[in-house]
Amino acid sequence: MDTELSGDKSGKARMYAGYIGVFDSGVGGISVLQALRAELPGEDMVYLGDSANAPYGEKSTEEILTLTDRCCDRLMHAGVKALVVACNTATSVAIRDLRQKYESRLPVIGTEPAIRPAAEAFPHGKILVMATPATLKLEKYARLSHELSGEAEFIPVACPGLAGRIEKGNLDAPDLEHLLRSFLSPYIGQVDAIVLGCTHYPFIRKQIRRVMGDVPLFDGGAGIARQLHRMLEERHLLSGKNEGQLIFLSTLDAPDEIDLYRQMYSLPASAV
Ligand code: DGL
Repeated sequence: MDTELSGDKSGKARMYAGYIGVFDSGVGGISVLQALRAELPGEDMVYLGDSANAPYGEKSTEEILTLTDRCCDRLMHAGVKALVVACNTATSVAIRDLRQKYESRLPVIGTEPAIRPAAEAFPHGKILVMATPATLKLEKYARLSHELSGEAEFIPVACPGLAGRIEKGNLDAPDLEHLLRSFLSPYIGQVDAIVLGCTHYPFIRKQIRRVMGDVPLFDGGAGIARQLHRMLEERHLLSGKNEGQLIFLSTLDAPDEIDLYRQMYSLPASAV
C-alpha cells in the first residue's frame, strides 16, 4: 500500500488541493494541529507525520534536512495552499531553505520555542526550555535566546529520547515519568515557567506537572495558528467554509499508526 494513502479509505490516490499541509517528524505536530483546527475550523487540513523516521532531534543536520525536504515536497505535490512545519527541530534546520523554495507560491510557517511569550509573562524570571538536542544546539535557538537574554534567564534542557518515547503512546507508563525525572529533577522548585520547545511535549503536560508541580507551561501552538490565520487572510486564501476536512497521513505503514494519530488528536494537549 502506498503509505501516503494511510488513513484514506477511498483506496485511490487523492490530491489535497486547497488544504493546509501540516508536517512533523511524527505525532508531535498534532498538538499544533489542534490549535490550527480551533483557530480555523473551516479549513481543510492534511497532516503528515514522518513516524517512519522519528525522532529527528538526535539526527544530524543533513539527515533532518533531507527528511524534512522529502515530506514538505510530498505535501507540495499534493497541492496544499499553505505549509506549516509543526516541528521545532525541522524548523531550526530547514525553514530558511523551505522559504526560499516555496514562499513565493504559498505561506510557509515554522515553529520555534515560545520563549518570547514566556519572557513577557515572567520578566527577569527563570525559564526552563525543554527541547530536542538538535533544536538547542542550532543557531536559531542561540540567536533567539540571546536576543531575549536581558529579559529573562533561560535554562536549556535537552531531552534526548523523550520525543521518541512519546511516539510510542502509553503516556502514563512509569518509564516515561522516570525519563522525565532524569531531565527535570535538578530544577524542581527552581523555575518560574517551562517552555515546551518540542511539539511532542504538550502531550505530556500532566506528566511534566506531576514532576515539576504547578508551573506555567508555554507552547507555540496558538501563536502559530494566529499567524496562519493572518497570512491566509492577507492573501485572500481563507476557505469560507464552516467545517473543514481533516486527513492524517503517516510515512510509517503500520496498521495502528493512523489510529494513534487520531487518539493523540483527541488528547487535551494545547490547553494551558
Ligand atoms: N516534534 C519535534 C519538535 O518540535 C521533533 C521531535 C523529534 O522528532 O525529535 O522538535
